[in-house]
Amino acid sequence: MEFDNLFQPLLVKRVELKNRLVMAPMATRFATFGGEVTDRLISYYSVRARGGVGLVTVEGATVSPEGRGWKNNLGIYDDKFLPGLRQLADAIHQEGAKAAIQIFHAGRKAPVGIIGQQPVGPSPIPCTKGEVPKELSLAEIRRLIDNFGDAALRAKRAGFDIVNLHMAHGYILQQFLSPLSNKRRDIYGENTAGRVRLIVEIVAKIRELNGDDYPLFCRLTVDESSSSGLDLEESQKIASILEKAGADLIDVSAGGPEAQHMIIQPMTEPRGCLVHLAEGIKQVVSIPVSVVGRINNPRLANEILSRKQADLIVMGRPLIADQELPIKAFNGKEDEIRPCMPVTRGVLTARQWEPVFPA
Ligand SMILES: Cc1cc2nc3c(=O)[nH]c(=O)nc-3n(C[C@H](O)[C@H](O)[C@H](O)COP(=O)(O)O)c2cc1C
Repeated sequence: MEFDNLFQPLLVKRVELKNRLVMAPMATRFATFGGEVTDRLISYYSVRARGGVGLVTVEGATVSPEGRGWKNNLGIYDDKFLPGLRQLADAIHQEGAKAAIQIFHAGRKAPVGIIGQQPVGPSPIPCTKGEVPKELSLAEIRRLIDNFGDAALRAKRAGFDIVNLHMAHGYILQQFLSPLSNKRRDIYGENTAGRVRLIVEIVAKIRELNGDDYPLFCRLTVDESSSSGLDLEESQKIASILEKAGADLIDVSAGGPEAQHMIIQPMTEPRGCLVHLAEGIKQVVSIPVSVVGRINNPRLANEILSRKQADLIVMGRPLIADQELPIKAFNGKEDEIRPCMPVTRGVLTARQWEPVFPA
């Protein structure tokens, strides 16, 4: 077979992924305003699972109401969400893929107009266009750790095989990790060990609740593209700490307060623009590493795997453009893959454009 590296299985703890292609978490706004799963959301993910991807990662689900990052943000902060989440995980399984769900809290990025209160963060430093957040007290940090733990347990109870912990894209866990947003002088700040402590405690909580054999992926912004922000060197230390803490995979991403464009990289960035960061993380950990970012064809994906620059390939927009990309690559029908086309704002109507991007 042409893309034989792509179609090798990977065992993570007790979960076997049938191939190396992962669907990236991508907010759809297909949940209800209250964060409940809808038929539309189930059908969107079923169709993508049917396309042959090994692992579907469901979009960022908030671990508390004040952690919502956008309108119609999927919720996982209460047992009332369980029936819908169960249906969603079942639907993905029925189509032959494994199911992961991303858990997150927007922190200072939570829009006041949506959460109806002042957002929270490690320090009272606003993000671009955001409100000044309330600095979390130690008691509130303990509650946040419980919120993440409870959310991960709910994911397991709903039948998800894997939890993806979102510590990228400027949300609360990256806010704690980054020297740009964390100016605390207590045990949760000051240096790398202090800034990563919250995440280490969350990982320990998830391990306590979900057990040692439950796979936990950590989505990390490896480079904040800022002279005083996170860079590869510090992220290598963070990845090593995460591995020791019990993470099962480092999911390499980018973007942050000073580089919003690197969250969803534009066409001005080269294909596979984050692969060098994944390679750098692979040098310091022995757990698998995944990589995302404009890897929009199976040939490039296969090459990255064959060069051992990453262990899993994560695709977002290419699977919106053609959910059957994996199956077409498997069947040698590369020419039939509908590519993710660059579009300009003028090509889309405002209504088509608006629901696509989270805040
Ligand atoms: C519409 C949309 C929504 C997204 N929502 C999320 C999200 O909820 N969580 C996350 O970690 N990344 C999110 N992302 C980023 C993607 O997971 C991915 O990292 C990014 O699109 C780059 O990959 P790609 O070039 O394959 O699209 C989103 C991207 C898009 C296009």
